[in-house]
Amino acid sequence: MEFMDVIRKRKSVRRFKPDPVPEEEIKYILEAARLAPSWANTQCWHFVVVTDQDVKNKVGAAGNRWIAKAPVIIVACAEPTQPGVKGDQHYYMLDIGIAMEHLMLAAAERGLGTCWIGWFDEAKIKEALGVPENMRVVASTPLGYPSEEAIATTRKSLEQIFSYNRYEQK
Ligand SMILES: Cc1cc2nc3c(=O)[nH]c(=O)nc-3n(C[C@H](O)[C@H](O)[C@H](O)COP(=O)(O)O)c2cc1C
Repeated sequence: MEFMDVIRKRKSVRRFKPDPVPEEEIKYILEAARLAPSWANTQCWHFVVVTDQDVKNKVGAAGNRWIAKAPVIIVACAEPTQPGVKGDQHYYMLDIGIAMEHLMLAAAERGLGTCWIGWFDEAKIKEALGVPENMRVVASTPLGYPSEEAIATTRKSLEQIFSYNRYEQK
C-alpha cells in the first residue's frame, strides 16, 4: 500500500469484530513502534499488550469503557526521566506519540483498527497492569478488525495550517 494511502486509511475505530488478532500481526505493529525515533535514542517505552478480558475490563474502567470490547488493548508506558526536558516540554510524550503513530499506521496497513486513547485514570491503569511507580502511562489503543466503517472526520485545509518564512495565522 502506498504510504499516503495508509495515512488516509487510518481513522479512529471504535467498533470491532470479535475475531482475535494473530500474534504475528501484533508483533508486526510493535516492530513498527520499535523502529520509531526517540530523544537521544533512549527508547523510554514499554508496551503492555492486553488480551485477558478481565484485565481489558479494568483498563476500560479507567476511562473509555468501550475499549474493553476490542480483542486487544495496547497500553504505552514511558520512563519519563530518560528523555530530555526543555522548559515545560517533556520529550517522553513526543517519543510515545511518534511510536504510537508508527504502530497505528502499521495497524492500518494490515487492515487493523486503532484509536488513540488519551483520557484515562492513570493510577487505575497502573494498578490493573502492575506498571512500576517510576513509569508513566501515556496512551493506549484498542486493536482489532473494524466491524464498521470508521467515522470520517474533517481536517483544516492545507492553506490554513502553514505559512512560508513567517508565522501567519489564516
Ligand atoms: C492525544 C489524543 C487523545 C485522544 N483521546 C481519545 C480518547 O480518550 N477517546 C477517544 O474515543 N478518542 C480519542 N482520541 C481520538 C480523536 O478523537 C481522533 O483522533 C480525532 O477525532 C480525529 O479522528 P480520526 O482519528 O478518525 O482521524 C484521541 C486522539 C489523540 C491524538
